[in-house]
Amino acid sequence: MVYRPGRPIQLYMSLICLFFVFFIRSQESFQTDSDSYNGAVRENYTWSQDYSDLEIKVPVAKDVVKGRQVSVDLRGSCIRVAVRDSQGERVLMDGNFTHKINAETSLWSLEPGKCISISLSKCGEYWWNAVLEGEEKIDIDKINKERGMATVDDDEHAVLDRLTFDYHQKLQGKPQSHELKVHDMLKKGWDADGSPFKGQAFDPSMFNISPGAVQF
Ligand SMILES: *[C@@H]1O[C@H](CO)[C@@H](O)[C@H](O)[C@H]1NC(C)=O
Ligand SMILES: *[C@@H]1O[C@H](CO)[C@@H](O)[C@H](O)[C@H]1NC(C)=O
Repeated sequence: MVYRPGRPIQLYMSLICLFFVFFIRSQESFQTDSDSYNGAVRENYTWSQDYSDLEIKVPVAKDVVKGRQVSVDLRGSCIRVAVRDSQGERVLMDGNFTHKINAETSLWSLEPGKCISISLSKCGEYWWNAVLEGEEKIDIDKINKERGMATVDDDEHAVLDRLTFDYHQKLQGKPQSHELKVHDMLKKGWDADGSPFKGQAFDPSMFNISPGAVQF
């Protein structure tokens, strides 16, 4: 938009303010902070989530330093968080979850003078659009729905490790895992009786090994 003299400057100012108000409440800005990644910043807390867990941070006043100044009632379907500070008891969160959690494997801790960290384990692998019923919902089409490494199973992990290893070896001009595997097999046969290479130094560069040559 181009500034044209004649239009009141206030109009531009209010459009700019509107833009910032929109941006600070938008998912794009939530995604820039790990505390609100795939989640949101709400009145009394900030939350983030991955495929299997949901983290809530409830800021507390500087004088809240002991566990007994905090009360966290965490159940499968609801939560209540209150603190006792110089102003008396204040309820910071009270409501029903939008989905069930596993209360046994969920936990919380107090970072003295900073916040209460609550880690919820989800019962089902849903992406939540809000922590509590009645809370403003986020647009889950705008979050990052990739599964984190923690939820990748062992077989998938092995393949990822190998691809990562290969990538780094390739960058450094070193043999990749499929080549190393063939080298191992070749080394065994290299010096065996009847081998045409018997007595020579092992030289893997004599072979051009294709990635498909080896089954992992
Ligand atoms: C946030 O906390 C204040 C107390 O500090 C409380 O009065 C208010 O209801 C809380 N807001 C929500 C949405 O729970
Ligand atoms: C939570 O759900 C129960 C029923 O399951 C309902 O009675 C209660 O009012 C709800 N609480 C809130 C804060 O919405």
